[in-house]
Formats: sequence, structure tokens, C-alpha cells
Amino acid sequence: GEGHRHRTSKRYREIMSTLPKELGWTSDHMYQYQGFWYTSMNLEGVMWAQQHFKATRLDVFLASTPKSGTTWLKALMFAIMNRTRFDFSTHPLLTFNPHELVTLLEFYFHWNIPYPNPNTPLPETQLFQTHIPFTSLPESIVDSQCRILYLCRNPKDVFVSMYCFKENLTDINLAPLSIEEAVEQFCKGVSLFGPFWDHVLGYWKVSLEWPERVLFLKYEDLKQDSLFHVKRLAGKKGIVHEIIKLCSFENLSNLKVNKTGVLQACDFIIEKKKFFRKGEVGDWKNHLTTEMVDCLNRIMNQKLDGSGLTF
Ligand code: A3P
Repeated sequence: GEGHRHRTSKRYREIMSTLPKELGWTSDHMYQYQGFWYTSMNLEGVMWAQQHFKATRLDVFLASTPKSGTTWLKALMFAIMNRTRFDFSTHPLLTFNPHELVTLLEFYFHWNIPYPNPNTPLPETQLFQTHIPFTSLPESIVDSQCRILYLCRNPKDVFVSMYCFKENLTDINLAPLSIEEAVEQFCKGVSLFGPFWDHVLGYWKVSLEWPERVLFLKYEDLKQDSLFHVKRLAGKKGIVHEIIKLCSFENLSNLKVNKTGVLQACDFIIEKKKFFRKGEVGDWKNHLTTEMVDCLNRIMNQKLDGSGLTF
């Protein structure tokens, strides 16, 4: 119940008060835990998941850094995994936001609603989403041998998408972080679930080690050749065209369910439309100065050097 949640929260906040802190993007501070940066709310959720979450072998996890196109992958995988259950004229994706259909692992702790969520049409769904870095995943996810799909995206587009998104989340009492300061923080590794490069490299390495368990995808590739990638994910032909159309930025962003209303978990409230900004590759060119681009390129080249991963 609520009392238990508050006591647990208090315990997590006590642990947090001993961790390294930095200027936050969206809240007063970010905390470094097991090498990654979190807002207090996200970190509570991560700690809860590490303690309590039990994955099974049949589960599928969609992992990503925030703003890599998670909303899109959630829609695609929900449609793929339930392709025999729904027809396209009454599909749940027409009346629910993708985030209402696929559970965010590190938000369980913050939901006021029982699990499984009785409002979603598929309470028994075995599809989950997480931003938790590979090395901090709950042990049961690693031990259960379940499948993981990792989605990443060009870091400059992720940065811009995150910076624009942050405007919707920022605590009103907080002095706004300028884009210059945000680049500086991002290049220091201080971003939501950052360092970005460590997040990406963590999953990249396991995808090379265990290709049958961890599939590594890029937003740009998915965008450029949706047909190829969705066929590969679906493992079957036929309905992939309808799935691609249903989940397209054009279609989803124009649905009433995604244009209006909010998503809420505890005191975190966000308008659904904020998950659909532009959905383009290379929008960073419209936002970043040459200095910012240099800074981001320099750190990425240095950190990804020798990994075989490029953007
Ligand atoms: P932009 O801010 O560049 O537009 P996440 O879902 O991980 O929060 O990522 C959000 C980014 O994915 C946003 O990028 C958003 O517009 C884009 N996006 C959302 N739905 C999409 C879709 N169906 N197809 C392609 N991109 C999508």
C-alpha cells in the first residue's frame, strides 16, 4: 500500500543522499548510481526494480536511452507481438498511447494503479520497456535468458530531442538549463540514464556476445528501411505493411489519443503529444552551433573508438 511505498521511498532517498550529485536537466539534481545518472524519481524506480522485479524467459524487453525512439519501438513491437489478436480497424494503438500499452519497468514503483494495469487491454502482456543500462538491469532479466531489443539513435539527435523534451518536465522552480550548459553536461556524461556512450556500449557489447539474446537496432536504420527491420522483428511477411503504417509518426501523432490527454505516474505528469515532436533524422542541424557539434563529436569519437560502433 501507500504507507509501504512511502517508507521504501524514504529508504531509497537516504541511499541517494550519499551518492554523487550533479546539476539536473529536469529536476534539482541528478544522482550517480552504479556509474549512471538519474533523477531521484527514476533512481527510486531502478532500485525498486533491482530488488523486486522477476523476469521470465518469455519476456521481451525494449531497452533504450530516453529519446531514441522508444515510443515508436513500443508501438511496433506491441503490434508485432499481438498481430493475431487485433484487427487494424479496432487496434488498441488507435485508442491507447504506446506508453499505456507497454509497461515501463522503472515506473512500477510510481504507479498508483495495481499491477497488472487493469486499464490496458492486455494485462498478461510480456512486453516491457526500460531505460536501465545493461549492467544495472535486475538480475532476473539477465538470468532468465529473455530477449532484449536495444534501440539507439544518433547522439546529436538524442541530445536535441532530450533538450526539447526537458522543457516539458522541468520543475518550474528551477533555473532553466541553457542549451550550452546542457551540451556541457551531456559531454560530461550527465544526462538522463547517461553517460550516453556507456549506455549504448553496454548493450552493443552484449549484442555482439549474445546475438541471439540481444538485438541492437538504430533509429536511423529503422527509419530508412522499416520494411526490412519490421519483417526481421516479426519473422513473418504479410501484415508488416499495415503495422508500419499504423505505427508511423504521421499516423500515431495525428490520433486523438496521442494529441490530447496526459500520462501520469505519481507526481510525474506529461502530455501525450510531447512524445511526438518531429520524428526526423538530422534535426540537430537546426539546433546546434558548430562548437556544440564539435564538442559532441569529439567525446563520441573518443568514447566509441575501437568499439566498431559508429553514428
Ligand atoms: P524528436 O524529438 O527528434 O522528434 P522516445 O520515444 O524514446 O522518447 O523518443 C522520442 C523521439 O522519437 C522524438 O524525436 C519523437 O518525435 C520520435 N518519435 C515518436 N514516435 C515516432 C514514430 N512513430 N516514428 C518515428 N519517430 C517517432
